Parts: sequence; C-alpha cells; structure tokens
Amino acid sequence: MLKIGVMASGGGSNFKAIIDRIGEGDLEAQCKFLITNNAACGAVEHAKMYGIPVFHISGKTHPVESEYEAALCRVLDESPVDLLILAGYMKKLPDVFVAKMPDRILNIHPSLLPKYGGKGFWGIHVHEAVVAAHETESGATVHLVGHEIDGGRILAQVKVPVMHDDTAASLQARVLEQEHELYWKTIRDYAKSLGL
Ligand code: GRF
Repeated sequence: MLKIGVMASGGGSNFKAIIDRIGEGDLEAQCKFLITNNAACGAVEHAKMYGIPVFHISGKTHPVESEYEAALCRVLDESPVDLLILAGYMKKLPDVFVAKMPDRILNIHPSLLPKYGGKGFWGIHVHEAVVAAHETESGATVHLVGHEIDGGRILAQVKVPVMHDDTAASLQARVLEQEHELYWKTIRDYAKSLGL
C-alpha cells in the first residue's frame, strides 16, 4: 500500500482532508508520520487524534543547521515513504533532504502557478495580490518540489472564480475548499502514474 509522510506548519486542514479520505477508503494509503516545525500547530492536533507519529524538527529543537538537516533525513531513513506531502509547510526544505526524494515530494500552493508563486507569495498574501490585481480567476496548484520555491513540475490545478466583492479572506476560504478535493485526488493519480 502507498506510504505517505506529511509535513505541515499550520492549521492542517489539507492534512486532515487527506487523512479523512484515507479513513473513508477513497485514498488507499497509510500516513506514516507528520513532520512539523511548529509543535503548537493544528496539524499536530489532528495527527494526535488519528494516532499518527509526530516529529517536531525546527530551528528550536535543532539550532545547528547540519543537525537540523540530519534530523529531517533520519525520519526518511527510519520511516521510509513513497511520497512526501507538503501541506502548508512554511520552511524551505534543505537541498540534501529534497535530493533524497527526487520527484517524490508534492506541495500545494493556493494560486494558479506560475502566477503568484515564489518569494513573498504565501498564505493570505497570495490572495491579497490576486484581489489587488483584479483577477477574475484564481485557484490552486499541486506541484513537485525541486530546489526553487513553487518551481517544480505542475501535476494538477483547479480554477476558482474571483467574485467582484471578494476579499483576500473570502477568496482564501473558497480556494482552500477546493484544495481539499484537489490534493488527495492528485496524490492518488500521481502514485498510480508511478506504479505505486
Ligand atoms: C494552503 O493554502 C496551502 O495551499 C498552502 O498553505 C495553506 C495550508 O493550509 N501551502 P492548511 O494548514 O492545510 O489549512
């Protein structure tokens, strides 16, 4: 069965949506762990509720960069997974860690990449920029993670209309709802395409 690991830093709604789909039998997978850099985040609460092991690895737990990198790599060595799923993970991954799983790390971004991606485009800032530019559509993208922020191969996108009275917050909520559907389906389809 497909083995996944998840990395998250925030509310963890995408993480929860994936776990729920596994629970419902829509996504045939096992979630082996959650890695977080924020021990107090919502994702950790979800992991605890579902009995998923949590690894808290951050600049606080590992102030020396090389030890931080080694701790991340150790998780992959000790709990091997087929795919690593970034679900609102707010820290750039070390190159040595990304190199351990070429084409096996997925991320979700709340815009139609390549638009509104890269440095500075995270969280509500993405939606603020979309609204300020009077875009008529936005959306979400699942892509492979390479060494550039938001730069890897695009696997799937979903479009979401921008309403004339949208605020960044209302648009964010509408996009997030679609992310929850897009992510598990893309994981399923990508795994299938790799023969996993
Ligand atoms: C999502 O908007 C995702 O696209 C981005 O970070 C946010 C995470 O939200 N990468 P949540 O923690 O899954 O609720």
